[in-house]
Amino acid sequence: MSNFLELSKSRRSVRTFDKNRLDDSVINELKQFADSITNPYGVPVRFVFLDKDENDLSSPVLSGEKTYVSAVVKKTEHAEEAYGYAFEALLMHAHEMGLGTVWIGGTMPREKFEEATGLAANDLMPCMSPLGKPADKMSIKETLMRKGVKADSRKKFEELFFEEDFNTPLTEAKAESLGLKDALECLRVAPSAVNKQPWRVIINGNEAHFYERHDKGFTTPDYDLQKIDVGIGMYHFEKELAASGKTATLEVKDPGIKAPSDVDYVATYRW
Ligand SMILES: Cc1cc2nc3c(=O)[nH]c(=O)nc-3n(C[C@H](O)[C@H](O)[C@H](O)COP(=O)(O)O)c2cc1C
Repeated sequence: MSNFLELSKSRRSVRTFDKNRLDDSVINELKQFADSITNPYGVPVRFVFLDKDENDLSSPVLSGEKTYVSAVVKKTEHAEEAYGYAFEALLMHAHEMGLGTVWIGGTMPREKFEEATGLAANDLMPCMSPLGKPADKMSIKETLMRKGVKADSRKKFEELFFEEDFNTPLTEAKAESLGLKDALECLRVAPSAVNKQPWRVIINGNEAHFYERHDKGFTTPDYDLQKIDVGIGMYHFEKELAASGKTATLEVKDPGIKAPSDVDYVATYRW
């Protein structure tokens, strides 16, 4: 099993922390890694590390956390996909360092986080995450929250992945024979808002067409949270594909495949 597949499978959202402040050396390592993050759209994503007490910040779903990282992007074309891709790169690195994180796009006092982050004109800060060592035991509210969104379950391969068109589901066995099972599995277990798993992928030869299946209630006037989910999924897929020796490039060119009415094309990976 590749290191990234193992990391993808062992990741879960962490909402209960051990109440300890992270060492400066840990925060500095994260900052250095953050500076190195790129994304296939070339849209800059800026990370701001925030101390809970200095900025008087909190979130109703978290406990025991001392540090947050928020991410900022300009309101521009493909901002959401780039944002999901880049922020997930940072959060997976934090997971690899033994830290707990959780994407927070809703359950926070947004104005306070935006003020502490410092937004310039046209800046968007759709999400933030706490950073810290997970507590030994989850809080009751975290356990209930996980149950509420069925956080431990995922849709089957056949519901998310297809071959050539949306009428032909891709089985795990077929994905295996194409050498794509691990990359698709890394994508399948990725986090998404309310665990809706909006990503849909059509495999066609050496191409993977990514689509977004829309649920109600995820768009704001400024951004679409589920498109951020698709960016997260793209990061997982591309990273595992690279681990299996396939270098993929991204292109936005709708192949014109007939899609269900609530499903929109996002981008294509080719390797
Ligand atoms: C874009 C995005 C926004 C999210 N917003 C919140 C949030 O506001 N509050 C929260 O508790 N969890 C939030 N989550 C975490 C999801 O609920 C979680 O990823 C999902 O239930 C799957 O659980 P897992 O991450 O443990 O696999 C968000 C996740 C994503 C990707």
